[in-house]
Amino acid sequence: MSLAAGKQDSTPGDDEENFVTLPVAPRRRRPGGNFQHVERDCIRAALAPDVPPGSDSSLRDGLSLSQREGPASSRQLGRHGTRIYLDESLSTMAARRLDYSSPVADPNARIDAKNRDFARFEQVKKEQEYLLAEAEAAEQFDEDFRIRTCDLGKFFRGTEEDRRAFAQELGEGLEQIGFAILEGHGVDPHLYEEAAARTVDVFTRPTLEEKLRYRAERHGSVNQGYFPIKETSDIHPDLVEGWVFCRRAFDLDGSASESYRWENFWPIPGAEPLFRRLCQEHEKLILPIMQSVLTYLGCDPHLYDRRLSATNFGLRLNYYPPVRPEDAASGAARLLGHEDVDLFTLVPAPQIEGLQVLNRANGRWIRLNAPPGTIILNTGDYMQRITNDILPSTTHRVSKPRDAALLGQARVSFPFNVYIREDEILEVLPGLPNPKYPPVKAISFHTRITSKYYGDAYAVDE
Ligand SMILES: [Fe+2]
Repeated sequence: MSLAAGKQDSTPGDDEENFVTLPVAPRRRRPGGNFQHVERDCIRAALAPDVPPGSDSSLRDGLSLSQREGPASSRQLGRHGTRIYLDESLSTMAARRLDYSSPVADPNARIDAKNRDFARFEQVKKEQEYLLAEAEAAEQFDEDFRIRTCDLGKFFRGTEEDRRAFAQELGEGLEQIGFAILEGHGVDPHLYEEAAARTVDVFTRPTLEEKLRYRAERHGSVNQGYFPIKETSDIHPDLVEGWVFCRRAFDLDGSASESYRWENFWPIPGAEPLFRRLCQEHEKLILPIMQSVLTYLGCDPHLYDRRLSATNFGLRLNYYPPVRPEDAASGAARLLGHEDVDLFTLVPAPQIEGLQVLNRANGRWIRLNAPPGTIILNTGDYMQRITNDILPSTTHRVSKPRDAALLGQARVSFPFNVYIREDEILEVLPGLPNPKYPPVKAISFHTRITSKYYGDAYAVDE
């Protein structure tokens, strides 16, 4: 019997009675959208005056700078040498939104939401219940749980026996909580220090107007580009700016095509080569991790080698600005509670605390502070789907730091999300008993889930 077969009883539902159910006020989101959407569409309309709000035209694509050139735009050279197109028709409403200090219209409409309010979007079993934002005194913390640390060096530099031991340690850790800490991975810690510093540059050197030229839009499965603060998603005003880069944003093979231009994706020069190196280092870890997971599950360890060679990924840069008193009082979290959609995520250990993991066994939050230079690994919805719920897609969030002195510091992180190509099929791994999920195309699976964050129109059914 495979290990997996013996674990079938350990489903999330077994712990349902222990879940914390928090009292929440009814959501006050207006039907048909909210002010923030209207405001955002006004910005889009101002930046791309030929396109009506809600249009899916590529003119709304903040990445396609070259497509912005036209009679309504004036071409200028940005202060860092980046070509910038400033549209003189920027509306008053848009200009107001460009002010960082302007609050969202009705933050209470969303900070009291629960994950269960969006249950219809889920494509794997999730019975945990939590508030998207932090609930301060209403929550309990698991001070005793220790996320397992696994030495990837056993895979790279060990014997076959070492590799099997690593697979067992990693598999057990992931099955228990969906998170593990990787050491011995071979990535130079100085690269992470450089990446942290450059992440700050990416968000703080360009003006907000410049960053808004790269506003996020869906390409394939993934919403790629820039997310302003409080607009990471439509369902919670996260106190973070984000920026998502997928393969198309990098000159990965060193021979960029004629049409590739780094400035179509990056707001400052020099960032692409550094983050390309980071992605290439993380790509080296994909197969060792997946092969170990498959070994643990009793499957052919090379089952996903082809699917994960030069596969889709998303590098997300997060910049959490210093927390202002009014933000601290608003109840908003730095990043809402969520589960990752992907196969798995690699997060180099952030320098400032904040990451918290929901222990489904007791409904308590685990503060995860990994040692510098290590990588936090967590499994996502793709993985839960193909493992028939054996490896969970575990809820996590980023909270404000407990130390008041740290509230005044910016926090950065740069998770690397591993996907399969969007035309591939996600199906329960062969050999796992009683498969509960039918096969589904990756793009449909992915976008049905993420339409939770971006609206029903985001979903692509194929
Ligand atoms: Fe996440």
